[in-house]
Amino acid sequence: MSGKNIYTGPLDWNNVNSPAHGEYFDTLFVTRMSRRSLLKAGLGLSVASFLGGCKIVDEVVSVDGPMFGFTEIPISRADTVVVPPEYTWQVVNAWGDPIMPGAPAFKPDASQSAAEQATQSGMFHDGMHYFSLPKGAKSSDHGLIGINYEYTDDNLLSPDGMTTWTAEKVQKSKNAHGLGVYEVRFDGKNWRTVKDSRYGRRITADTPFVIQGPAAGHPWMRTAADPAGRTIKGTFQNCANGYTPWGTYLSCEENFTPYFVNDSGKIPRLQDRYGVPTTKNSWGFRWHEFDERFDAAKHPNEPNRHGWVVEFDPYDPASVPVKHTAMGRMAHEGAMLSEAPDGRVVYYMGDDDFRSKFEHIFKFVSARPYVKGGGYEANKEILDEGTLYAAKFNADGTGDWIELTYGKNGLTAANGFNSQAEVVIDARTAGDVVGATYMDRPEWIAVHPRTKEVYCTLSNNTSRGKGQPLHQKDPLGADPANPRAPNLMGHIVRWREARGGPTSLKFDWDVFMQAGDPGHQDPLKRGNVKGGVVFAQPDGIYVDQRGVVWIQTDSSAANMAHADWAGIGNNQMLAADPRTGEVRRFLTGPVGCEVTAVQFTPDMRTMFINIQHPGEAPLAHPGRNNPNNPKGISSWPEGDKGGRPRSATIAIRRKDGGIVGT
Ligand code: FEO
Ligand code: CA
Ligand code: CA
Repeated sequence: MSGKNIYTGPLDWNNVNSPAHGEYFDTLFVTRMSRRSLLKAGLGLSVASFLGGCKIVDEVVSVDGPMFGFTEIPISRADTVVVPPEYTWQVVNAWGDPIMPGAPAFKPDASQSAAEQATQSGMFHDGMHYFSLPKGAKSSDHGLIGINYEYTDDNLLSPDGMTTWTAEKVQKSKNAHGLGVYEVRFDGKNWRTVKDSRYGRRITADTPFVIQGPAAGHPWMRTAADPAGRTIKGTFQNCANGYTPWGTYLSCEENFTPYFVNDSGKIPRLQDRYGVPTTKNSWGFRWHEFDERFDAAKHPNEPNRHGWVVEFDPYDPASVPVKHTAMGRMAHEGAMLSEAPDGRVVYYMGDDDFRSKFEHIFKFVSARPYVKGGGYEANKEILDEGTLYAAKFNADGTGDWIELTYGKNGLTAANGFNSQAEVVIDARTAGDVVGATYMDRPEWIAVHPRTKEVYCTLSNNTSRGKGQPLHQKDPLGADPANPRAPNLMGHIVRWREARGGPTSLKFDWDVFMQAGDPGHQDPLKRGNVKGGVVFAQPDGIYVDQRGVVWIQTDSSAANMAHADWAGIGNNQMLAADPRTGEVRRFLTGPVGCEVTAVQFTPDMRTMFINIQHPGEAPLAHPGRNNPNNPKGISSWPEGDKGGRPRSATIAIRRKDGGIVGT
C-alpha cells in the first residue's frame, strides 16, 4: 500500500485492483480473495479467528465464485410468504403470542385485555437481534430474540377497533408498542418460542427508563411528572435496532412526534422542528385523550424525552432500560455498530422522519474503548460519553463527518445552542447549522463485517425538488447523494471511512444502486439495478458474514402494486453481491406487509426476519383496517383458521440444512 492517506481519484468499487480497494483501506475485500491469498496478505490473525476451526466457516470464506445459488423468485401479489424452492419458512412468534411467564394465548378476536397484551408479543414486529443461549455461547439452536414492536393498527387491536375509545384501549395500544424478549429453541426441524421462559419480557410505552448522558437532568427534559428530568415513562415507535459488543440490545425511537398533539396554536420552535402536530395532523393514536402527557401544549417537554437510542440487557429481565442522550435525538431508524481497532464503539444512525423527509445521517464515536469481556456492568456508561457527528456528502465522492459539539462548528449561543445537552436534544438543528446533507429518508444502515464498508438505504423522498413540508424553506433539488427529484423509488448509498477506519472524519462514498422498475416509462422511476430486478423503497439492510447484502422493502400499502408501483408487487427481500452489483429476489411477503430485520444464527443455517403489518390498509399512514372486516385485506399467517392478520417473526432455512443464501 502507498502512504496516501485519503484517496481522491475516481472510485471503482467493483474492481479489486483499483485504489478504492487496495490503496487506502486497511482491510481488503475478503470475498474477492481465496483463503490462501488472504493468509499471504498478512490477514492471518483475523482470518484464523474468523475460521474458528469449523467447517461451515471454511465454506463461508470460500466465496470466490457466485455468492448465491438460490433460485430467484418472481414478484408476487399472493397473501403469503414465498421463498425459493430450495427453502422453507415457518412462523416463530406472532403478535399476541405469550412470551412472559403465565401469559395467555392469543385470542383470534383480539379480545385480550390491556394487561394480557403486556405479557404477549406486541403488534408490529420490526428490528430484532438474536442473542445466543447460554450467554457467551455461539449456539445456533437456542437463543433470545430481542425485538421492537413499532406501532399498532388499533382497528385490529380489539374486537370493535376504534369504534369506541376508552382508557383501556389506550392502555392496550401502549402495551402493544415497545420492546420484547422471547426465548427460542430449534428442535432439529422447527423453531419454537419457549413457554414461560424466565427471560420473557415486555417493555411498553409505560415502562420506566433512566436518562443517561449530557441531557440527563437538563431543564428541557423536566416535566411535571419528572421534575428532575432523569426518568422517562416508556418507549414507542421503535423501528430498527442495534446491539453492543457487551451483549445488550439497542432499540431506536423513530417517528414519535405524531403521537403527541399541540392544539394551542403556538407550537414552540423545538416541537416544530421535530414535527409535533395538531390533533388534526397527528396519526390519530388518541393517547392524549386518556394520558395527558401526550398533550404537548400542557407538557411541552414530554416530546424531548423520546427520539433516543435505548439500551437494555436481554439476559436480565429486571434490568432498567436506559435512554442514551449522547447519541442524539431524532427519528432514529437504527444504530449500527462498527468497532474501531482501539475498542471504541462507533454507531451509524439515520434520521428517518416520515413526514419532514429531509434529515441527516449521524455517527457516534464513544470516548472510551469498551471493556472486553466485561459485560453490561463494565460498559454501562460507554454510550454516554463520546462525539456525535453529522454526514456531509460532497459532490466529488468524498464526505466529511462534522462534529456536533457545543462551541464548535457554529454550535454556539449565536445559533441558539447553550450546552451539549441542547445540541443532543436538538441534534437535527445542529446538523442543519453545520451543513450536513439532507438525505432522502435514511433507513437501516449495515456494516460489512470485514471491510467495514457501510450501506444505508434511503427509502424515498417525494418532496425532493418540490419543497419541504416541515422546516426547509427552499426546495432542495437532486444532489449527487440523492440523485433523483422527486425520488419515488429509493436508493442505497455506501461509504468507506478513510484510513483510520470507523473513527475517521473523512470518507468516500458512492450510490450503490437506485431502485425502481426498469419497465417504467419515466426514466426517473426506472432505477439502475443490475439485471433489471424490480423493487422499490429499500428499508431493511444487512450484510451477512459471507458478504451478501440483504435488502428488504417497505413500499406503503397505498402505493403497492398500482400506479408507478404497478409492476413491483408485494414487499420483498433481495440479495445483492457487493462485488458485482448482482441482485436476486429471495422472498416476497404477504399483501400489505413490509419485510424487515435480518438475523442469522452463528452457523448461518437459520435466517430470522419479520413480516410487519400484513394487511395494512391502502390509506394514509398508519393505514388502519376496517374492524368489521379484519381479514378484508390479508389473513396471513393463519388464513381461514385465524381471526385477523398478525405480524410475525419467521425462520427461513434451506431444506437440506445448508447455509442460507447459498
Ligand atoms: Fe420505521 Fe424508517 O422505518
Ligand atoms: Ca424502516
Ligand atoms: Ca418502515
